[in-house]
Amino acid sequence: MPPEMSRFYVTTPIYYVNDVPHIGHAYTTVAGDVLARWRRLHGDDVHYLTGTDEHGLKVQRAAEARGLAPQQLVDETAAAFRSTWDALDITYDDFIRTSEPRHHAAVQQFLQAVYDAGDIELRRYEGLYCVACEAYYTDDELAPGGECPIHLRPVERMSEENYFFRLSRYEERLLAHYEANPDAVRPETRRNEVLGFIRGGLRDFSMSRRSISWGVPLPWDPEHVAYVWFDALFNYCSAVGYGADPERFAHWWPVDYHLVGKDILRFHAVYWPAMLMSAGLEPPTCVFAHGWLLVGGEKMSKTRLNQIAPADLVADFGVDGFRYHFMADQRFGPDGDFSYEAMAARYNADLANNFGNCASRVLNMGVSYCAGTVPDVRADGPLVDAAAAAYAGCAEAMNRLDFAGATTAVWDLLRATNAYIEDRQPWALSKQGEAVAAAEVLGDCLEALRITALLASPVIPNAAAELWRRLGLPGRPEDARLPEAAAWGGLPAGAPLEKGAALFPRWEGA
Ligand code: MSP
Repeated sequence: MPPEMSRFYVTTPIYYVNDVPHIGHAYTTVAGDVLARWRRLHGDDVHYLTGTDEHGLKVQRAAEARGLAPQQLVDETAAAFRSTWDALDITYDDFIRTSEPRHHAAVQQFLQAVYDAGDIELRRYEGLYCVACEAYYTDDELAPGGECPIHLRPVERMSEENYFFRLSRYEERLLAHYEANPDAVRPETRRNEVLGFIRGGLRDFSMSRRSISWGVPLPWDPEHVAYVWFDALFNYCSAVGYGADPERFAHWWPVDYHLVGKDILRFHAVYWPAMLMSAGLEPPTCVFAHGWLLVGGEKMSKTRLNQIAPADLVADFGVDGFRYHFMADQRFGPDGDFSYEAMAARYNADLANNFGNCASRVLNMGVSYCAGTVPDVRADGPLVDAAAAAYAGCAEAMNRLDFAGATTAVWDLLRATNAYIEDRQPWALSKQGEAVAAAEVLGDCLEALRITALLASPVIPNAAAELWRRLGLPGRPEDARLPEAAAWGGLPAGAPLEKGAALFPRWEGA
């Protein structure tokens, strides 16, 4: 991604409303938020989209089981997703719901465009269907016991007269697209997976359902509704004005990043670009597929009863503690195991100790030895290189969507600052009457804290803003502009310092 690019559009998957939000959903959504905040810090014009996927058989059945109309059910769960994201300080610019009129209208225009391109055909179809996936499987794709390979649940034999999307026509075009755009699917292993799948031959897929009514009717045959994935994927376009506001759509499309879990890679990297090509639209610039958060070695799911609600962890570790954990603890790509003990240990080590202690030591000493105001920051202090490396490392990692690498780069600056304090012992300097030397050391450390607060703000926005305030800085870190603001020497001398309570109180156990 060229760093000078100023328009930046990033999306999460839209989540199914038959489930309640859990930490797996939060994982993708926090990652998108960190990326969005990072790009806004660079002055980019950012659009961060999330939302809910509200159609399909699964939702219709879930509503029937509870004796509700589908709209009632989706209103409830969509609100739960929204309030979860608000509670996690997710700065989404838009929240799209596929039951909204703006989405319906756009999907219908899109369907018509694909139909007019000759890519949709009526056929009779019989196959094995997993309602949880909303997808048909062939015998050889099923798990050894004949179950859905993802949910390990029985599949249903369904027979319908459906419209088909002629995906097979797009094999060559997709391969050419991925040939020309090596970064269009990341990481590399996922790209290889996608290429392998396309090379294995693409089958046309059924893109309408007659048996259900909860969906977007096909404009040329309203007895059918669009297959839920066909409608859901289009949220990325309908949210930015497709059909309704061509100028706005042209501004945002194509998307920079679709962040998705590996379970839905095929939909995003095979079906979706082909659908877009059919309607004469550009494919996404990059689909980035991350691994699963596992609990006890297994993917979280309703049926396994191993889901963890974000609110339970926020109660113990705070919003910033929650966000930090999922960004720092595992690489954004492979699967990773979640454990409460590991979360508590990392919280204490990285946030309570490294971040929190460093901040309170430096602020306390600043208040005691520098008369409570920021001393002059030396232009050539010994932390200058560590600060430059923190920005460079963070930026490089963020460009690769390596959130763990980005946090490590910032925490390296804290480690260097802590080591410097131990080495120079400002308290001893002050005792020995070396007030100037003590002030020099503390000036360096306070400046390192400013840069840390700034670079860490996308991940821990609340603690960063509080530290910013205690350093006597106006506004919030979000108001600063990178990369300039990360340059050494930005902390104004003479501003009042404030000690304050621990930014991350130590976690002593439940
Ligand atoms: N509605 C579809 C997506 C349509 S996008 C056009 C869907 N929804 S979902 O609710 O099942 O959410 C899937 C996404 O949630 C995954 O791709 C992933 O981003 C996130 N996760 C859900 N469980 C997860 C884990 N256990 N671990 C990591 N991410 C997980 O599929």
